[in-house]
Amino acid sequence: MLSVQDIHSYYGDSHVLHGVSLTVAKGELVAILGRNGMGKTTLIRALIGFTPPREGRVVFKDRDVTSLPPFRAVEMGMGLVPQGRRIFPSLSVLENLKVAGNAKARWNLDRVFSLFPRLAARKAHAGDNLSGGEQQMLAIGRALMTNPDLLLLDEPTEGLAPMVVREVAKTLEGLRREGLSILLVEQSVPFATRIADRVHVLSRGRIVHSCSAAELLANEEVKSRHLGLGS
Ligand SMILES: Nc1ncnc2c1ncn2[C@@H]1O[C@H](COP(=O)(O)OP(=O)(O)OP(=O)(O)O)[C@@H](O)[C@H]1O
Ligand SMILES: [Mg+2]
Repeated sequence: MLSVQDIHSYYGDSHVLHGVSLTVAKGELVAILGRNGMGKTTLIRALIGFTPPREGRVVFKDRDVTSLPPFRAVEMGMGLVPQGRRIFPSLSVLENLKVAGNAKARWNLDRVFSLFPRLAARKAHAGDNLSGGEQQMLAIGRALMTNPDLLLLDEPTEGLAPMVVREVAKTLEGLRREGLSILLVEQSVPFATRIADRVHVLSRGRIVHSCSAAELLANEEVKSRHLGLGS
């Protein structure tokens, strides 16, 4: 589905990603774990085309998409759930979903509302009138309305209560069971290891460790050295 090959990203002269490579197969859920400022959002921006990498390649569904603009990447089937949700605050729930939608599509309002009944009950509420958890559901729903084959999520659990985090985990597990491919960037090790097949640890723009979720949980050295956990 996705193959990222040795990408380097910059902001001006500042070299942020130093040769990142990874793959996501169809129906796979891959997580990138890293602390603040390690380059997680920059990686997502590189994949979808907001900040195209200066070196390396991004191959999506067997096509080189490295220099495609974001709207083309979305048309091709990348869906983005951005960091901080980025709900349109003055638009209603319904309007937030409609801006992303397409009437003939696989995902439509009915399907999003049956996935998230709480959003259905708040259809007419403005975006800034929702709880953090509801906003996260809306951000996921909005991305689904673009009919993605690959969902990119940037720290979807940031600022959410543990109960809501469990709900987000269940939602992503359900989507993955339906065959969606998912790339998640996260700081939360418990969340990412609960749902991911494989994890990569990102530190200062480099992948420094790759393993299964279970292996990461057992690896105290990597967790304390790169993820600020444990002793
Ligand atoms: N627009 C920008 N211009 C210049 N430097 C930037 C810009 N955005 C991010 N950076 C720098 O790039 C590095 C990686 O930032 P990035 O936002 O990708 O980290 P992150 O892992 O997403 O962090 P967080 O967990 O806080 O969201 C940081 O050193 C950051 O200061
Ligand atoms: Mg970030």
